[in-house]
Amino acid sequence: MAVISISPFAAAFVLVLTVVPFTEAALSADYYHQTCPQAETIIYQTVRNASIYDPKVPARLLRMFFHDCFIRGCDASLLLDSTTKNKAEKDGPPNISVRSFYVIDDAKTKIEKACPHTVSCADVLAIAARDVVAMSQGPWWPVLKGRKDGRVSKANETINLPSPFSNATTLIQSFAKRGLDVKDLVTLSGGHTLGFSHCSSFSARIHNASDPSINSEFAMNLKKKCPLKNKDRNAGEFLDSTSSKFDNDYYKNIIAGKGVFGSDQALYKDTRTKSIVDSFAKDEKLFFKEFAASMVKLGNVGVIEDGEIRVKCSVVN
Ligand code: HEM
Repeated sequence: MAVISISPFAAAFVLVLTVVPFTEAALSADYYHQTCPQAETIIYQTVRNASIYDPKVPARLLRMFFHDCFIRGCDASLLLDSTTKNKAEKDGPPNISVRSFYVIDDAKTKIEKACPHTVSCADVLAIAARDVVAMSQGPWWPVLKGRKDGRVSKANETINLPSPFSNATTLIQSFAKRGLDVKDLVTLSGGHTLGFSHCSSFSARIHNASDPSINSEFAMNLKKKCPLKNKDRNAGEFLDSTSSKFDNDYYKNIIAGKGVFGSDQALYKDTRTKSIVDSFAKDEKLFFKEFAASMVKLGNVGVIEDGEIRVKCSVVN
């Protein structure tokens, strides 16, 4: 299994970034009310069944939505397969560890049977991302819909995804390019209350021993799981000790020096983000409310109006 490597991220500093325009596109909560009223039920049932069968699915779909929206906006460009002529986002280094595309493909196949050529793959993913949070005991919010699917997907653009080694300034800039503010950054990073990371995303940080912000016992535990000469490419650590429950433990862990990524821990080192971490650690309800609001904002990033309604999420029409 391939994993995230550091070098492409480092190269991001020298490449010209592709700016994703932030649009206030005309999305609405009842977009499919007349044309496909059963869409959300079909998606919910598909995602729920898949998650019962494989508990890794919720975290994977939440991350998938984030990675899609950050590259070319929420246009399902991440769902497209590579072709002989084009290496797609899916095969870009940070996305090799994004899995469970089959769940979105399944939901879309069922929706196509119920209401052909109506519901975009970008909307299916946005709804699925909401459902996995709610079904992991997190907040629920009405998803705005009406996105169109893009026709372009390029692996080399995934270099513009934020790196787990970034500091707060870099993360703030990366989010700002997508119209997301400092509070959105801290709030959405709370997505790391779910899921798992491979060693390669944090190994450098623990073995260089140069990061004094890590709790020493926690660092020792990570070193055990990810020894320097690690041969197990599947090895890693859960992002949170309650990694299948959506809660505010992520923020409590950061305060305790137990953030898995440098980019998580960075949020407690910077005055612009530290007080927000404190407020979410103290008040889970506040975190839930802000998470729902920031996910709606994330879902607005770069929404396109001149795309298509893909019939199959992995190929353009
Ligand atoms: C702030 C910048 C972010 C960085 C640098 C970052 C980086 C990463 C990395 C390196 C992984 C582990 C990949 C692996 O080794 O398997 C990961 C996992 C994950 N990320 Fe993020 N992430 C960020 C923001 C977000 C956001 C905004 C969300 C969702 C709202 C999110 C949701 C997740 C989830 C759920 C996982 C676990 C996936 C799984 O278990 O398969 N991340 N992230």
